Amino acid sequence: MKRNFLTIAFSLLVVSSFGQNAQEFVNDLLSKMTLDEKIGQLNQYNGDWEATGKITPEGDKEKQIKEGHVGSMLNVMGVDKTRKLEEIALQSRLHIPLIFGKDVIHGFRTTFPIPLGEVASWDLALIEKSAHIAATEAAAYGIHWTFAPMVDIARDPRWGRVMEGAGEDTYLGCMVAKARVKGFQGEGLGHVDAVMACAKHFAAYGAAVGGRDYNSVDMSLRQLNETYLPPFKAAVDAGVATLMNSFNDINGIPATGNRYILREKLKTEWGFKGFVVSDWGSIGEMISHGYAKDGYDAALKAITAGSDMDMESRCYRDYLKQLVSDGKVPIAFIDEAVKRILLKKYELGLFSDPYRFCNEGREKQQTNNQENRMLAREIGEKSIVLLKNEPFNGKPQLPLSKQTKTIAFIGPFVKATVANHGFWAIAFPDDSLRIISQFDGIKNQLDKNSTLLYAKGCNINDNDQSGFAEAIDAAKQSDVAILSLGEGYDMSGEAKSRSNLQFPGVQEALLKAVCATGKPVILLINAGRPLIFNWASDNVPTIVYTWWLGTEAGNSIADVLFGNYNPSGKLPISFPRSEGQIPVYYNYYNTGRPAKNDDDKFYVSAYIDLQNSPKYAFGYGLSYTSFHIGNLQLSSGKLAMKGGKLNVTVDVKNSGNYDGEEVVQLYVRDLVGCVVRPVRELKGFQKIFLKKGETQTVNFCLTPDDLKFYDNDLQYINEAGDYEVFVGNSSLAELKGHFELTE
Ligand code: NOJ
Repeated sequence: MKRNFLTIAFSLLVVSSFGQNAQEFVNDLLSKMTLDEKIGQLNQYNGDWEATGKITPEGDKEKQIKEGHVGSMLNVMGVDKTRKLEEIALQSRLHIPLIFGKDVIHGFRTTFPIPLGEVASWDLALIEKSAHIAATEAAAYGIHWTFAPMVDIARDPRWGRVMEGAGEDTYLGCMVAKARVKGFQGEGLGHVDAVMACAKHFAAYGAAVGGRDYNSVDMSLRQLNETYLPPFKAAVDAGVATLMNSFNDINGIPATGNRYILREKLKTEWGFKGFVVSDWGSIGEMISHGYAKDGYDAALKAITAGSDMDMESRCYRDYLKQLVSDGKVPIAFIDEAVKRILLKKYELGLFSDPYRFCNEGREKQQTNNQENRMLAREIGEKSIVLLKNEPFNGKPQLPLSKQTKTIAFIGPFVKATVANHGFWAIAFPDDSLRIISQFDGIKNQLDKNSTLLYAKGCNINDNDQSGFAEAIDAAKQSDVAILSLGEGYDMSGEAKSRSNLQFPGVQEALLKAVCATGKPVILLINAGRPLIFNWASDNVPTIVYTWWLGTEAGNSIADVLFGNYNPSGKLPISFPRSEGQIPVYYNYYNTGRPAKNDDDKFYVSAYIDLQNSPKYAFGYGLSYTSFHIGNLQLSSGKLAMKGGKLNVTVDVKNSGNYDGEEVVQLYVRDLVGCVVRPVRELKGFQKIFLKKGETQTVNFCLTPDDLKFYDNDLQYINEAGDYEVFVGNSSLAELKGHFELTE
């Protein structure tokens, strides 16, 4: 009976939208809405109760949905649940469907490497694909909207959320932002395998002082525009449907109430047509910031600044009506926000079929999709970064022979399953059965006649050394010991800032004890951020950075260790030598007293007790083969500012003994500017595959747009003058050319 009523309601709606374009439809609907219904569209609730409509401490949400007072929900998933709630929403006077959002950050049923790890692949096509698979799986479970990608530039590895973004570089960050938005939104909203993406956190969240989560940000507007905003602009240009506010203030104004970034930049200058959702409670948090007096004031400041939807603070729900009747908020502000939201509902196709994301068949099909797992395995392989592979007893340990007689696999992560997800994965009850542990990955590929010994050695983060003896014993019986160490998967992510980035607990002591056996050691490092592991770097011959690789972690790691895949990952963020060196990033300014080399301390910009370079540079990563990059050629010594093009070519030779991939990176330096310019900036990269012995010419095309920057008046300009160009396989590239940008 209820269904029949709903079916009629829909068909009326579909009929009423027939022949209308999106704008007309939305305007028409808006004209029928009461103020209460409008405000309802701006209200987003967490799905913290059963879909059957339990009374929650703050009232009956089912009733509120039925009355049209809720526009969206987060954290509800499964077609069963979303259908039930959608049915309730459709009983509202105007039958406006709900949008369901969720943090689908690096996969859904199939998890992929944590976002920072995945960026180490520098493989934009694969990054796009993984986002698309995440979207397909999430959409099949009733989700319309992911709160991803996080596009915050992060130069401070103390900040736990570095794991969620694309690292320290603005150019790479823009490319990845585009790829992820395209992946999530697929062929466009309206397709049932596309979800709305959400570029977050707008803005500068990654620049929190001291790397402490939710902390303040104080920076020049020039820096904001040049370094932190471009990935958001790239996401907007790629058609991102939504943005999310950040928790921080920027120069004293909380981002949620920041008119400059929301109205002036995003909605006016960039022409963004989607909507902005607050972060969880961030409208109400403006009271704690000391920027709003109370909820009334917070709602006023957020809506005026341009925040459209209130996630969980209830300030819009409770105060917007009063603000309108007090004449504080023009109805035009409310209408604008509502229209933006309704437009996305329309584009998602929810008005023509609110249940289009509620298909049990599709949900089942995506529950354990083998093809998706294959791709996760491939991306996992490509995300791994080989940091060190020096000879031990005259020979590098990797790739490891599958016939190695006895291997000791030691460490607290070896048999872990769920941990391989990393932070921000969606938990399913069967996770521990579906995730390939590192132990199983190695075991499955090791020759039948070989032996794989296991010893946990220690826990992740305590002082217990009682497992050391067993680990040492296992190492002594083996030809090689693989140690899997790192930080806990839940030590990075939201609210997971760390002041100490070393291996927690007694892990380093375990490593030293195993190394003392004299056996060759291969160290795997599991982490959501750059860790500091100087003793290991200086003493262990082979180090592999594995991040957190997701569902197929064990298989990806085994593929790399045994050489089925020759590693090609490159660091998307600099690795510091000590916490005191943070922030350390490759595109710094030269200063008036630059250090000439790593040990230069004589009245230069340096620490007297530390080498000047990072431990591992941005863009760095090894392969089992070697590549020689040479013969740098520029098509001209000049690049014309009006419509000019400059081709930069290099010859890349695979000069080692294995086929493999290399990421060829191009950096430029603007030698003199009206404001000082970074010592180098990434402006292009290409990932190429070369058979051993093969040579390929790689061509980059530079245009004046690549050389633009913000001057002190915030004008985005080109400036004539001299530039250097560097090409190589990391930010330390030495091969150098020179050209002039001419008027
Ligand atoms: C807070 C986080 O900062 C944000 O990234 C996330 O999307 C929301 N919570 C919703 O879970």
